[in-house]
Amino acid sequence: MTKQAKIQMLDIKKVFVTEEMETHALRGVNLEIFDGDYVSISGPSGCGKSSLLSLLGLLDSPTSGQYLIEGQDVSSLSINERALIRNQKIGFIFQAFNLIDELSVFDNVALPLRYREPAMSAQAIKTKVMDCLEKVQMSHRTSHKPNQLSGGQQQRIAIARALVGDPAILLVDEPTGNLDSKNGDAVMAMLAELNKAGTTLCMVTHDPRYADMAQRRLHLLDGCMADELTFKEAV
Ligand SMILES: Nc1ncnc2c1ncn2[C@@H]1O[C@H](COP(=O)(O)OP(=O)(O)OP(=O)(O)O)[C@@H](O)[C@H]1O
Ligand SMILES: [Mg+2]
Repeated sequence: MTKQAKIQMLDIKKVFVTEEMETHALRGVNLEIFDGDYVSISGPSGCGKSSLLSLLGLLDSPTSGQYLIEGQDVSSLSINERALIRNQKIGFIFQAFNLIDELSVFDNVALPLRYREPAMSAQAIKTKVMDCLEKVQMSHRTSHKPNQLSGGQQQRIAIARALVGDPAILLVDEPTGNLDSKNGDAVMAMLAELNKAGTTLCMVTHDPRYADMAQRRLHLLDGCMADELTFKEAV
C-alpha cells in the first residue's frame, strides 16, 4: 500500500499582481509531506518562504496548481471554506507569539476549541488544554497572563494552542525569531520532542542550525524547490 501524503502540492504557482509589476513568488512548487515528517524550508530573503507557508496554512490561495490536504483538494475554496478547513486541520506557530494578553494561559490555549467546538463540555476542554500544556511543560502556569511569562514560555503556550485541536500538520514560521538563543534552543528542543511523539511539522527558518534539526531539509530558491536532503534521524 502506498502511504498517502498528508500534504501534497502539485505545480503550485503564486503571482502577486500590483499596478506596476507582477511578482512570481512561487514558480511551480511540488511538495509532499507525510505523516510524522519534520520538514524545514529555508532559502534567501524573498525566495517565497512566507508565501509558501501562507498557502500551506490556507491563509491565501494559489494562482494555479493543486493543493491536497489528506487527499482533499483545497486549491480553489472560498475564504469561508478555507477558514473552516484551517481550523480543523492546521496548527500555526508565528514568529510573534500572537497570544491574547487579556486572557489567561488556560483561556489562550482553549480559544481554538471554544471557536471550533461550541458544544464541547468544559470538562472535555479542560482535559485537552491541560494535556497540551503538559506537553510543553507549562501546566504550572495556567492562570498567568502572557505578559507575566518569558518569551520562551510564551512561545510554548503558542505551541500548546496550535496543538489543542489535533491538527493534521503544524506549520511553524521562524519560531525563534523573537527569542534569545537559550529560549530559542529550548523551543526547538520542544518541537523536536513533539515530532518524536508523532506531530507532523513543517517549519520555515533562515537559521541553518535549526533547519538542520529537521529530517527533510528543503531549499527554496527564487520560487522553486532546489535540492532536498533527507536524513533518517534528525541530528
Ligand atoms: N502581497 C504581496 N504583494 C506583492 N508582492 C508580494 C506580496 N507578498 C510577497 N510578495 C513578493 O513575493 C516574493 C516572495 O516573498 P516572501 O515573503 O514569500 O519571501 P520570503 O522568502 O518569506 O522572504 P523573507 O526571508 O525576507 O521573509 C518577494 O519578491 C515579495 O516581494
Ligand atoms: Mg518571510
